[in-house]
Formats: sequence, structure tokens, C-alpha cells
Amino acid sequence: MSKLTQSPTWQALADVSGQLPHMRQLFAADPLRFNKFSIKQCGLLLDYSKNRVNEPLMQQLLQLAQETGLPAKIAAMFAGEAINTTEQRAVLHTALRAPADAVINVDGVNVVPKVHETLAQMRHFVEALYQGQWRGCTGKTITDVVAIGIGGSFLGPKIISEALKPYWNGKLNCHFVANVDGSSLSDKLKTLQPETTLFLMSSKSFGTQETLSNTLSAKAWFLAHGHTQADVAQHFAAITSNVAKATEFGINPANIFPMWDWVGGRYSLWSAIGLPIALLIGMDNFHALLQGAHAMDQHFASAPLAQNMPVIMGLLSLLYNNFQGAQSHVILTYDHYLRGLPAYIQQLDMESNGKSVTQEGNPVDYTTGPVIWGGEGTNGQHAYHQLLHQGTALIPADFILPLQSHNPLGQHHAQLASNCFGQTQALMQGRTYDEALAELAGCKLSPEEQQRIARHKVMEGNKPSNTILMEQLTPTSLGALIALYEHRTFVQGAIWDINSFDQWGVELGKTLGNDVLSRLAAEQECNALDSSSNALINLFRKGRL
Ligand code: F6P
Repeated sequence: MSKLTQSPTWQALADVSGQLPHMRQLFAADPLRFNKFSIKQCGLLLDYSKNRVNEPLMQQLLQLAQETGLPAKIAAMFAGEAINTTEQRAVLHTALRAPADAVINVDGVNVVPKVHETLAQMRHFVEALYQGQWRGCTGKTITDVVAIGIGGSFLGPKIISEALKPYWNGKLNCHFVANVDGSSLSDKLKTLQPETTLFLMSSKSFGTQETLSNTLSAKAWFLAHGHTQADVAQHFAAITSNVAKATEFGINPANIFPMWDWVGGRYSLWSAIGLPIALLIGMDNFHALLQGAHAMDQHFASAPLAQNMPVIMGLLSLLYNNFQGAQSHVILTYDHYLRGLPAYIQQLDMESNGKSVTQEGNPVDYTTGPVIWGGEGTNGQHAYHQLLHQGTALIPADFILPLQSHNPLGQHHAQLASNCFGQTQALMQGRTYDEALAELAGCKLSPEEQQRIARHKVMEGNKPSNTILMEQLTPTSLGALIALYEHRTFVQGAIWDINSFDQWGVELGKTLGNDVLSRLAAEQECNALDSSSNALINLFRKGRL
């Protein structure tokens, strides 16, 4: 057994978790439950009262956080220690949103000036495009920007841009291409003119196959329209830590924005990787996004564990994961603009905490990162919420709702909110057999049939959920929300003693994919691999079944 699972606190949690009374009773017994189990910070309110906890259980969870050294681990991250121990790197997405006078050293060098230099470079770039100082090779102003990237170099910019649509200033159109399926780029290019289009290649490594292929094909399309290699400089810019490769590609070094190895891809939207966001909402709003995240950083770094929003959320999710058999966690957004958020948190959490060895490289003897999924809450209510309410799997849920809509329309927002609150209430209280039977009283069915139907209508309830409210979805509140989930992910990884900042698991598939690519193009049939892979490769080579 590991030190973690052997610890008396872990054992105590295993014993008592799941033994609490039904949440209905917990609410009935304590009219102050909401006050006790909610936190307001950084423009967000977290109501975690609809969780299977009481004060002693929360104390045990907090004790676990203390014993596993969470406060010291938080401090180490903020201080720029090399906590990504398999790549010997600091983890400093927090430095990307630190104020200009902050001092954060990596290997004895303060990284904050470089961060602010890059923010200034971004502002200059955005303004030059807005004001038509940056023009295409034929002298026309740029109207469209295509951001090419994948994973962390795509999801953040795309989803945060979508979320901040009410703040788009209409000065430029931004498009995103990630998938290496040629249909993705081709469909996009059909709608664009090369002379007025700028490609923004986003790749920390400048070596990701999908991104390189899409960029090379975009360049070929550009050149095929009568433009020259020299014109490339006015139509291609890059965000990368591999300046040599980007320059070799033909990108003017003045148009290369830096990335640093102390920023993980899935934590990089705050860097120049966020340029598409800045182009859509303007640099002032981009700074507001950074400020929101910075406020959450300060809260995370300084609040006592018991009042620390990311800590509480991390511990609650861990409770269900490690002690109550939950294998997934659903994110339900009650805001149209936040519809992409579950996919963003999915990458953030699953690429970070989908690990099965400890920092020391020993196998874990406890479950780690759950499957993260979700979608627009109201749509889910007419689909998969059925399983949340009556299925056999325990699926803790986060409900996210802004109190004010950007588009007030009759009763729509009240209906949206009522759905959100009604769902959390239904999950918590459920419906007993007696209640179900009472609802059927007086109907035409026989008493036996009423009893049979009532059994189908029983909802166990006691299903945990968090509700996160903000006054309105703004750059600042969104920055705080994203940072909240980043730190929640950190909390769990720290307690599980795993490295949340590498992603070796995605490497083997990439390597084998490259090997397969050469076999697809080879002259002879493939018979060197397993029978399934051979057959699939040879079918692809033939192009028919
Ligand atoms: O394959 C996973 C991954 O390495 C992600 O972690 C990363 O965000 C993405 O690929 C893209 O990498 P890059 O920015 O180097 O192109």
C-alpha cells in the first residue's frame, strides 16, 4: 500500500465517506447549510452545500490536503520551482498573468519582464492590424486571421473566444483550424481571400504533425494564388518556442511571438497563444481576462485551505473519485457562450491528471483523474441528465450560470436559471417511493399498476453538485473561472502525488502514427505488424473494402 492510502486520514475517509445521512436530511437539519458551504471570491460564488459532506468530513478532507503537503506544493508552483519533475521545468502559467512589478524567478532570472514585453508586442500587433498598418502583400488590409494549432494551442483560444463573443469588436474575423483532416482547412480556405488573410501558426514545439501539415497546406494555397515566398512574411506569423524552425519556415522573426518551456500547452491561453482572443476582443479586454485569473491566483496562493475555492472543489471531486467510486465528472454550463467550456476543462484535467505513477515512478494504488465531460445544461436535461438522476453511476456535477444575460430576451434567462437550480435541487432531494405514489393517486391505473409505475419514478437523490455563479460572463469573471479549474486540477494532482504537467501518454500514439504513415505510402503491402493493424493499413492502401 502507498503512503497515501495507508495514512490514517485516508483510512478514516474511506470509513466515513458514504456513511452520512441523505442530503435531504442534512439540509433539513441545518438551515445554515448554504452559508456554511459556500464561498464568494473573485467575482464567483461557489455553492457546494449540495455535496455529501458535513463539517467533520470537510475537516478530514482538509486534513488530507495538509498531510499531503498541499500548501507547500502550492507555494512551490508559484515560486517557479521545477515541479514538472519529468521534464525538469517550472510551471508558471501564473506568471503570465502577474502584474508588471512582480518578481518570479526561473533559474535566477525574473520572467515577468519578458511576459510584459510579449504583451506589449501583442498589443502592437493587434493595433497594427486594426489600424491597417499591417497590410497584405498587395496592399489590402487584413480582414481574416486563421489560427492553426491543436490541443492546448487551439482549445483555449477557440473556446475563450467563443465565450467572450459579446466583447468581439468586429475589427477582424478569426477562424480556427486544428484537425489534420484536409476537409477542415479546405472548407475554411474556400471562404477566404489570400491577399486579406493572415495565418497565425500556434505551436509551442513547431513540430506537431497536424499543425505543420495545415500550415504547409495553407502556405501552398497562398503561393498557388500567385504570391511569392517573400510575400509569406506579410501573411504568416507564429507563436512558438522554436524560433529557429519558424524562421526556417519563412516567418519573419519580428512576427514570431515567444513561448517558454515553463508554460504547458494546456495552460497557455494567457500567453501569446491567446492572440486570437486578443484580436477579437482587443488588448484591454485581454488584460481584463488576465486580471481575473490573477485574482484567482492570489486567492489560491493565500486563502486558508478551508476557504480556498480551488482547494474545496479539488477535495470534493477527490472524495467521490477515491472513496465513492465516481469515474466521471460532468460540467454543465447554463450559458450559451460557455458551451465549449467542458471540452476545455476536459483537456486541462484529463491531460494533466490522467496518470498512473507517482512522482517517484511507483504505481498508484488509488484512482486518479476522472473522465471529464459535459455540455450545455439545458440541452443535457433532455438527454443524458436521465442517467445523472436515475442511472447506477455516481456522477458529480458542476453547474455554471451567470446571473445576468448578455441578451435579455423575455423570460429566457429566468427559464435558464430555473432549469439550472431545479436540476441541482432534483439531484439533491430526489423523489421517494411514497412521493411518487402520491403523485399517481387518483389516476385511472389500478393500485398494483400505480405501485409498479411509482417504482420507476423513484429518484434516489443525494447526487452531488456544485453551483458556480457569476454576475455576468465578462473577461474578468471568465479569467477567474478558468484559473479556478486550473488550480482545482493542481490540487488533485498534488494530493495524488502525480505529475500534472507532463503528457507522456500522448507520445506513443504519435510515434506509431508516423511509422504507419510511412507504411501507408510504401510500395509493398504491410505485414510486419499485428494482424489488425496490417489489415487496416492494407485496406487504406487499396482505398476500398
Ligand atoms: O499532443 C499533446 C500536445 O503536446 C499538447 O500537450 C499540446 O498542447 C499540443 O500537443 C500541441 O503542441 P504544440 O503547441 O507543441 O504544437
